Amino acid sequence: MNDAPATAAARQTNPKQDNGAAGRAAPPCAMVIFGASGDLTQRKLIPALLNLARDNLLPKDVAVIGLARRPMSDHDFRRKMSEGLRDLKSQSAEAKAWENLQSRLFYLSGDLQESATFAALRERLERCDRELDTQGNYLFYLSTAPELFGPAIERLGESGLTKEENKHWRRVIIEKPFGRDLESARTLNHQLRNVLTEQQIYRIDHYLGKETVQNILVFRFANGIFEPLWNRRYIDHVQVTVGETVGVEDRGAYYDTAGALRDMVPNHLFQLVALIGMEPPSSLDADAIRDEQVKLLRSIRHFSIEDVPKRAVRGQYGKGTIDGKRVPGYRDEAKVPKNSRTETFVALKLEIDNWRWADVPFYLRTGKRLARRHTEIVIQYRRAPHLLFRNTAITACQANQLVLSIQPEEGVSLRFGAKVPGPIVRLGGVTMDFDYAQKFGNRPSTGYERLLYDCMIGDQTLFRRADMSELGWAIVEPILQSWEKQGNEGLMEYPAGSWGPEAANQLLARDGCRWHELDECD
Ligand code: BG6
Repeated sequence: MNDAPATAAARQTNPKQDNGAAGRAAPPCAMVIFGASGDLTQRKLIPALLNLARDNLLPKDVAVIGLARRPMSDHDFRRKMSEGLRDLKSQSAEAKAWENLQSRLFYLSGDLQESATFAALRERLERCDRELDTQGNYLFYLSTAPELFGPAIERLGESGLTKEENKHWRRVIIEKPFGRDLESARTLNHQLRNVLTEQQIYRIDHYLGKETVQNILVFRFANGIFEPLWNRRYIDHVQVTVGETVGVEDRGAYYDTAGALRDMVPNHLFQLVALIGMEPPSSLDADAIRDEQVKLLRSIRHFSIEDVPKRAVRGQYGKGTIDGKRVPGYRDEAKVPKNSRTETFVALKLEIDNWRWADVPFYLRTGKRLARRHTEIVIQYRRAPHLLFRNTAITACQANQLVLSIQPEEGVSLRFGAKVPGPIVRLGGVTMDFDYAQKFGNRPSTGYERLLYDCMIGDQTLFRRADMSELGWAIVEPILQSWEKQGNEGLMEYPAGSWGPEAANQLLARDGCRWHELDECD
């Protein structure tokens, strides 16, 4: 699994890092969206392209071809995409950008398993090159049902459209789920590599498009004061919470075959863990950063089957109340079997076997229908020795805590102790807060802007390498196997609107810790 590729290519094509030319439009290209009739295109991809156009980061010579089975004209495709946008004020920069972008949207109907589709695509792309000057640079975005990833890549390879020659680039973005276990992820990597080099493959994890996730690197490595305290000597433990209030919505059929662990942990949560836990990279090159992330993932202690009940908790939501509304239990959701054993909540205790993190547990939890939509990382520092305040009214000093809020609130807050004014020495916990929106204002963003732009300029930093995706699966595989064996045993119901089963609290309580109460930070 050694995937460290030559970094020269990535370096050559990364204008942001090489010459500091941040904010330069990407080179001319055509983007093809496979599975364009799905939700993602209308809700995220097209609005993200529009935001890039508004910021002058989208190439002037661009074309976007939506491809799916459903027949649709260019006109209907354009209309459908406009419906996905919020109201644009006429004459605004956005409205003008949309007028231009809209005229460059096209639609092709076809079956991804058939070569004829790719012959038609080839013709359409050649026309874009001739008429819109897209210069033979193609970005293929695979946003189809996962079972079509392999066949689509094969057909794409056969069509010759992935071949890079005469300085054209050809790149493929591949959506999640990237396999459903280690073996299927390996097979998919193999299928991709039969057709593409690793430098052409962009495995997307939309979590990495979030500003606050990207800020983790800056926070850690562009500030002198945090890194020296970022280790086992000062940190007691780390918590990562990804809470969602939504249920499975209309995705019951997919979700029931996945579950919370597969859906969120080896990808989104491990990305957060890797960013928090990695060593400083030697440069900002994509592979310098990803090499460090891989080293961290490799240091995560593997679960033995016997470990699983001690270090992993799973739950499934029953009925309950969210935001004052009654909601059904998971087994009563559409397309979910009445006897489903799929977990909608998972909590894990990870141990990282390296010098920086030995004996510093990383606790992770994520679930659907939880009390609040909130993603955060908590760095819990060790307590200060209490000696100095021995003869005062202070009985316990709260430990310092650094909270990185990822969404929906975005910011950083640091908790420390302060003396409460008055003649008696009393201590209160206070926080120093940085709020992204307050400081920088709100810019409309879908989270896909940076990822699409990076792919267009050839920067793979925020995309997962083959070894990262396989390592993620290798870590969770024993948990999946153990749960499969256990059946219903150990699957705990929690009421919708709670923070998951009590066992998730016990996981920390056994180590003398507790989850950061989210209302504490309000
Ligand atoms: C997706 C999962 O990858 O991430 C969904 O499949 C989940 O189940 C979503 O809801 C969460 O993403 P976000 O950006 O809404 O936090």
